[in-house]
Amino acid sequence: MMQISTPFMPEKGVIRSIVPMAQDNYLFEFKTDTDRLAACKPGQFVELWVPGVGECPISVCSGRVTESIQLLVRRVGRVTNALFQMSEGDWAGLRGPYGHGFPVERYKGQNLCMVAGGLGIAPIRSLWQYVLDHRQDFGKVILIYGMRHSDEMLFREELKLLLQRGDIHVFLAADDATVCELPPFAMQVGRVTDMIRQAAIDHDFQVAICGPPVMYKYVIEELKAKHVTDQNIWLSLERQMKCGIGKCGHCFIGGRFTCQAGPVFQLADLKFVPELIECDNGGAQ
Ligand SMILES: Cc1cc2nc3c(=O)[nH]c(=O)nc-3n(C[C@H](O)[C@H](O)[C@H](O)COP(=O)(O)OP(=O)(O)OC[C@H]3O[C@@H](n4cnc5c(N)ncnc54)[C@H](O)[C@@H]3O)c2cc1C
Ligand code: FES
Repeated sequence: MMQISTPFMPEKGVIRSIVPMAQDNYLFEFKTDTDRLAACKPGQFVELWVPGVGECPISVCSGRVTESIQLLVRRVGRVTNALFQMSEGDWAGLRGPYGHGFPVERYKGQNLCMVAGGLGIAPIRSLWQYVLDHRQDFGKVILIYGMRHSDEMLFREELKLLLQRGDIHVFLAADDATVCELPPFAMQVGRVTDMIRQAAIDHDFQVAICGPPVMYKYVIEELKAKHVTDQNIWLSLERQMKCGIGKCGHCFIGGRFTCQAGPVFQLADLKFVPELIECDNGGAQ
C-alpha cells in the first residue's frame, strides 16, 4: 500500500471511468483517497505516473475537483500508451497540483474570453467549468475553440449544452468541418483568429489562451487589434517538463523554471523570452 509521506509522492488514483472523446483522446476520471487534489485550480497540472513506465505532466481538466479528478489524455508516447492499456478499476499515481494556473480571482468582476486550440481545450475546460459554477462573479463570457478537423472536437456533448446556455457565447471552428453533429450555425470553417475577429471582445476583456505554441503569435496579433493589453492576456505554455517541481531543469528557460513560474503566464511577463511565443512550434494540437 502506497504511503503519502511528502507532497512529492504520488497518491493512488483509481480509474473510475474512461470516456473516448475522439481518436486517441480519452477522458480519464480518477478517484483518490485524500483531498490533496481538491486544491487543483484551472490551468494547473498534475504528474501522472504509470508504475514501471514513468511520469508525464497532464493539465487539470475538471473545474470541480473533490474526491475525483478528470484528465484528458492524448496517446502519444510511453506513459500515455501505457495508460491507454488500463481499464476502469486499475490505478495510476497522481502528484500535484503544480504550477500557477489561470488567475481566476483576478478575473472576477471582469469580462473573460477563453481561447482554446486543439488539446488546449483540456485546461480551458477546467476554467469554463469554474467560471460557470461562479457565473455571477463574471461579466461577459466568451469561449472560442478551434481544431484542425471537426471530427477532432473534444467535449462535444458538453459544448452542445454550452451552446444552449444564454450566458456564454461559444464560437467553434475547424480548418476542415465536413462532419459535425452540431447545428451548422455554430460551427465554422476557419481558425481561432477568424473567430476572435467576429467576437465582441474589447480592451477590457481578460483573455485566457491554451493551444499549440504556433497559434499564440497570431492570436496575440488579433487581440492587439482589439486593444487588449499585455496585462490582460494569459497564456498556458506547455514546455518540456519532467519533474514538475523545479528540480530536473527540463523546463528551464529565460532564467525560470516554467513548471513553477507557469504554465500560465501573463503576456506582459513574457517579454524577457519572446521565443517562447514566436519560435516554439511543438505543442499540444
Ligand atoms: C503543463 C503541461 C500540461 C499538459 N497537459 C496535457 C494534457 O492535459 N493532456 C495530454 O494528453 N498531454 C498534456 N501534456 C503533454 C504531455 O505531458 C506529453 O505529451 C507527454 O510527453 C506524454 O508522455 P508520453 O510518455 O506518453 O510521451 P513521450 O514518450 O514523452 O512522447 C512525447 C512525444 O515524443 C514523441 N516521441 C516519443 N519517443 C520518440 C522517439 N523515440 N523518437 C521520436 N519521437 C518520439 C512522441 O511521438 C510524442 O509526440 C501537457 C504537458 C505539459 C508540460
Ligand atoms: S519540470 Fe523539472 S524543473 Fe521544471
